[in-house]
Amino acid sequence: MRILLITHAYNSLTQRIDAQLQLQGHDTSVEFDISESVTEEAVALFKPDLIIAPYLRRAIPEAVWSRQVCLIVHPGIEGDRGPSALDWAVTHQVAEWGVTVLQAQSDMDAGPVWASVRFPMRAASKGSLYRHEVTPAAVDAVLLAVDRFKAGNFKPQRPASSQWQPLMRQADRAIDWQRDDSATVLRKIRAGDGFPGVADSLFGQPCHLFDAWPEGNLRGAPGQVMARRQTALCRATADGAVWIGHVKRTGSIKLPATLAFASECLEVPEVPLADLWRAPTSTWQDIAYEEADGVGTLFFEFYNGAMSTRQCERLRDALVWAQQRPTTVLVLAGGHDFWSNGIHLNVIEAASIRGGSAADESWHNINAMNDLALELLTNQRQITIAAVAGNTGAGGCFLARAADLMWLRQAVVQNPHYKNMGNLYGSEYWTYSLPRRVGMEGAKAIMHNRQPLTAAQALAIGLADACLPGDVAAFRQAVADDARKRALAPDIQAQIAIKNKAKQCDEQAKPLAAYRAQEMEHMQRNFYGFDPSYHVARHHFVYKTLPSWTPRHLARHRDLSARQP
Ligand code: COA
Repeated sequence: MRILLITHAYNSLTQRIDAQLQLQGHDTSVEFDISESVTEEAVALFKPDLIIAPYLRRAIPEAVWSRQVCLIVHPGIEGDRGPSALDWAVTHQVAEWGVTVLQAQSDMDAGPVWASVRFPMRAASKGSLYRHEVTPAAVDAVLLAVDRFKAGNFKPQRPASSQWQPLMRQADRAIDWQRDDSATVLRKIRAGDGFPGVADSLFGQPCHLFDAWPEGNLRGAPGQVMARRQTALCRATADGAVWIGHVKRTGSIKLPATLAFASECLEVPEVPLADLWRAPTSTWQDIAYEEADGVGTLFFEFYNGAMSTRQCERLRDALVWAQQRPTTVLVLAGGHDFWSNGIHLNVIEAASIRGGSAADESWHNINAMNDLALELLTNQRQITIAAVAGNTGAGGCFLARAADLMWLRQAVVQNPHYKNMGNLYGSEYWTYSLPRRVGMEGAKAIMHNRQPLTAAQALAIGLADACLPGDVAAFRQAVADDARKRALAPDIQAQIAIKNKAKQCDEQAKPLAAYRAQEMEHMQRNFYGFDPSYHVARHHFVYKTLPSWTPRHLARHRDLSARQP
């Protein structure tokens, strides 16, 4: 069938649905929800058999839904209605939630149901639930609905009862620091994370709070900002304390808390971790190391997978240290939701807000990413495994590819290209690692086409080395089991010697420094050159400017050559 996806953004959920529909043999195209007339035009151009809206923030025009079936993906159980479905589900601590695919009609979320899928809830942020629970449920529900639509004999029914839940207001989210215990504060912040956050104030300044983590030991007067550590601030609650990793000050962008309140933080005592990288701890820790049976595992839980210069430097310190440990396998486990999304575009943008240079900060950040990738590429003591449990984008994909092996969780979506960010050329030694895996033509196609890759696709084209099923916990367990077997294998030293020999040959053929120098020549032009595209694209990305058109590589119905008979 011809299926048109109408969406607010080509986010990871839409990417997964698009990929799965294509895999089933459907012909898909994407149009962003820009205006009613643009949507109507897209329908007229593509002439779809079916329209699906995976992620919309407003209603589909009546002129469209009244003429053909439009299926809406609603992140709520059958009968649930309203724009804050997940926010309420987190707030009410429901044990089970779901996704419903329903037909668009005049009343919001009130149309007949084509499919619905349930999942157990997890204590996590709204964004994390969206990525790990809602997304796979939505893919299953959409595929089921599409099959039912295709079969032609399915009669969708309205739910027996329904409940409208209103838009959650800031008054519903407000934290009472004198009364709310840590669990309540965590739940309130998580219900609005990544958007819109909880309106609050810090150091007497209004801001929105995101990225909350529990603290096990520190105590203080409720509401007091007691401590800082790296990017986060620790604030006392009625019965303990929580860490707040990110804030958005009024009129500004979302930033690490200690950067957003840089001068105010100077007065706050720094409370470093007792044992640098060792895990587990009962406090907030973004870089953590575990070791067992000859396997070291390095976790890096960076919010949104964005890695600032300082975060790269700290991770490199941890990596250098981990590489000296008496282990033969080193697993780079990344974070729960993202492995890495490359340089930290918000922190870079903040440099210009503060009167500094975004170009300089971009340059420092990409160099720090490259230093990290180089550390992995030149590791001679261990087999390194990038165990990618969460999505990766741009430089994050090539940081992962710098490891000897890249294992992906089956549900992961990768975007191993840079051009969406204002034609950025990219670095992280991709010109060395990508053609080695997919050939020169394959590498050019990936960079040019700018399409997401599912884990299965990445494996099929040779970009990834394994694709493992399950949720994050199951994936990490499977990785740990396999890594242990490798570490204990009698030929592990021989395997390390073989990889070192191969790297030596590569280095003789063309030194890594030469790849880096060539990439950085392009990057210098991107950051400091004539053409401001990267700076403009970054600005729009961090300020979340609404798109005014759908990129042509997604809106296939607008591709004139494809429409010619
Ligand atoms: N720097 C700062 N923030 C980033 C980021 C980066 N490199 N990559 C993603 N984010 C943020 C997004 O702004 C969003 O923020 P929010 O919490 O305020 O909503 C959040 O991470 C989630 O991103 P989203 O786009 O919703 O996730 P996704 O899984 O749907 O899409 C990507 C993933 C990778 C396709 C998309 O985030 C992207 O294009 N990121 C930019 C990658 C890049 O160009 N990096 C720089 C070059 S190395």
